[in-house]
Amino acid sequence: MRIVLLGPPGVGKGTQADRLENELGLPHIASGDLFRENLGKDTPLGRQAREYMDKGELVPDDVTIAMVQARLDAPDCAQGVILDGFPRTVAQAEGLKKVFSEFGWELDVVFNITAPEEELVSRLSGRRICRNCQTPYHVRFNPPEEEGVCDVCGGKLYQREDDKPETVRKRLQVYQKQTAPLIDYYRKAGLLQVIDGDQGIAVVTRSLLEAIGGLA
Ligand code: AP5
Repeated sequence: MRIVLLGPPGVGKGTQADRLENELGLPHIASGDLFRENLGKDTPLGRQAREYMDKGELVPDDVTIAMVQARLDAPDCAQGVILDGFPRTVAQAEGLKKVFSEFGWELDVVFNITAPEEELVSRLSGRRICRNCQTPYHVRFNPPEEEGVCDVCGGKLYQREDDKPETVRKRLQVYQKQTAPLIDYYRKAGLLQVIDGDQGIAVVTRSLLEAIGGLA
C-alpha cells in the first residue's frame, strides 16, 4: 500500500501518519522531518533548507525530490509507504510519478485531510515536537504524560521555529498557492479521498483505516 497524506499545515498529517505506521506496519516518510533531521545535524542540505523553512517557504523542488527519492530507495520502503508533506507542488507530484514508475510502484490513494483555518492556527500554536524522534504533541489536545517529555522515547519536547504566528500565516498562504492545486491534480487522477480532519485524533484515524479497508 502506498499512501499520500495531503492537507494544510497543522491538519494532522504527521499525527495520523504515525498512527497509520503503527496500524499498517508501513514506514512514515515526512519531507519536513527529513529536512529537520538534516538541520539538526547541520548538513549542507539542512543549511540550504533552513533558508526556506524559517520563512515558511517551500524548499526548491529538485532538492526535495532528490532527498525523498533517496529515502524511498531504502529497503524498508519496498512493501509500501506513507508519504506525509510530499508531494507539495505539481512538479513534485510529477517527480513522484517518475520515481514510482522507475521503481515499478503504483500510488494507491491520496487522502486530503481538511479542517477550518482557525483550527489549524490553534493546533500549530500549541504544538510541541520531540527533538529526538519528532513525535508531535499538543499542549491541550494531545499532551504527553509528563510535561515536556516524549512518551515514545523520553526525548525533550520543543516548539518548532516555524510555528510562530507570522510564519504560520505565511505557510498557510504558501499552501493555498502551491499545494492546494494538487487536490485537483489527484482528483483528476482518480486517487483522491477527502477525510474530515476536524474531529478527534482517534476518529480521524478510524476514518482513514475504514477508507483504506475499502480499497482492498
Ligand atoms: P512540514 O514539517 O511538512 O510541515 P507542514 O506540512 O506545514 O505540516 P505540519 O507538520 O505543520 O502539520 P501536520 O499536518 O503534520 O500536523 P501535526 O500532525 O503535527 O514542513 C515544514 C517546512 O519544511 C515547510 O514549510 C517547507 O519549508 C519544508 N518542506 C517540507 N516538505 C516540503 C516539500 N515537500 N517541498 C518543499 N518544502 C518542504 O498536528 C499539528 C498539531 O495539532 C499537533 O500539535 C497535534 O498534536 C495536533 N492535532 C493533530 N490532529 C489533531 C486533532 N484531530 N485534533 C486536535 N489536535 C490535533
